[in-house]
Amino acid sequence: MSVWQSSLKAAMSHLDQSGMIRSLKVRESPNAPVVTLNGQEKLAFCSNDYLGLSYHPELIAALNEGTKLYGTGSGASSLISGHTSIHAELELRLASIQSLHIPNVGASYISTGFMANIAVITALATLGNISIYSDALNHASIIDAIRLAKASSQATCFVYQHANYEELHQLLTMDPNPLKLIVSDGVFSMDGDIVDLPQLLVISKEFDALLYIDDAHGFGVLGNSGHGILEHFNIQANNLIYMGTLGKSAGIAGAFVVAEQAWIDWLIQKARAIIYSTAPPPNLAFALLKSIDLITGDEGALRRKQLNSLIEYWTTHARFTKWQAVLSQTAIQPLIIGSNLDVLKVSEQLSKANLWVPAIRPPTVPVNTGRLRIALNALHETTHLEMLIDRLKAIQ
Ligand SMILES: Cc1ncc(COP(=O)(O)O)c(C=O)c1O
Repeated sequence: MSVWQSSLKAAMSHLDQSGMIRSLKVRESPNAPVVTLNGQEKLAFCSNDYLGLSYHPELIAALNEGTKLYGTGSGASSLISGHTSIHAELELRLASIQSLHIPNVGASYISTGFMANIAVITALATLGNISIYSDALNHASIIDAIRLAKASSQATCFVYQHANYEELHQLLTMDPNPLKLIVSDGVFSMDGDIVDLPQLLVISKEFDALLYIDDAHGFGVLGNSGHGILEHFNIQANNLIYMGTLGKSAGIAGAFVVAEQAWIDWLIQKARAIIYSTAPPPNLAFALLKSIDLITGDEGALRRKQLNSLIEYWTTHARFTKWQAVLSQTAIQPLIIGSNLDVLKVSEQLSKANLWVPAIRPPTVPVNTGRLRIALNALHETTHLEMLIDRLKAIQ
């Protein structure tokens, strides 16, 4: 056995012993409340397709039409030749959605949310030795973006305890650096809580800091028209960069950054994740325009209403003697089980009852807070939640 092979074997067996092995599950059907897994039908609570749009007939038709009109691939990075009229149209639309909240607004459409976080944070760090303030529960892609900003520029990072704005304030008070950036998830991906954006905005203004909000789990579902967290809190800000994703509630793929046009221009100069990567496929941009019509129109409103009634049902009825249900106002409803082995066991027992709720373990969540991340979507029905709650009560 080579040194590489024995190192790999030892590392895998270490993961195995600590209940940390991850394995892919192959889904054989489209995203829906009931999916097929290994030939068996399961009621699923694990998709971020919160509005249930990823198999919508109008989006399927739009993707087909977009493919006929623009082809399957963009062929090059945006700055070379990959930026088409449909990319530009989508960006205009995405910018106009947030125009009530951000002045002189522009947008950039990027392949994924992970890349968008890398793009924005590393591009901002090229402006000098910046200080980055990051919530302890921010998404892995923000953490990696900050790591890259520290390595490639000379950024310094301060992590404040989750939603502890007093601590954030204190850290900012002690920092003589004029270039301060506060970064936070809008909806925290593993807890489902919503950031206190009005408070964060007050703090950012006090310290002349720039605010970067990752609204991956808010765009499409928060706000009356589904515009996301800025609409939810009715925010107007000129020191804010907003990132939304398009593979979750929008049901397709990709992400976008919206900010004052000057920031978008800076991304085009300095964001290596944009400059050196093939532009997203144009057919996706075409279908995304349709998805935005659905999100912001009557159908989106109806789907949000159904989702909100499911959230209300869950938060009223999910009570367990052994486990703590972390009740949130969003589609993400965690049930904290504890150790890796325990959460794996509960997930497995649910699976035997044809309920699919994956076990979420460290490093995605803190040690000993292994959890079921129950994700609701607008296509679920109350009876689905009843089934899950009954089964969990029987298992506990
Ligand atoms: C908060 C947050 N930001 C960014 C991302 C990455 O987005 P994408 O899946 O489009 O890469 C995720 C993905 O789950 C997320 O939860």
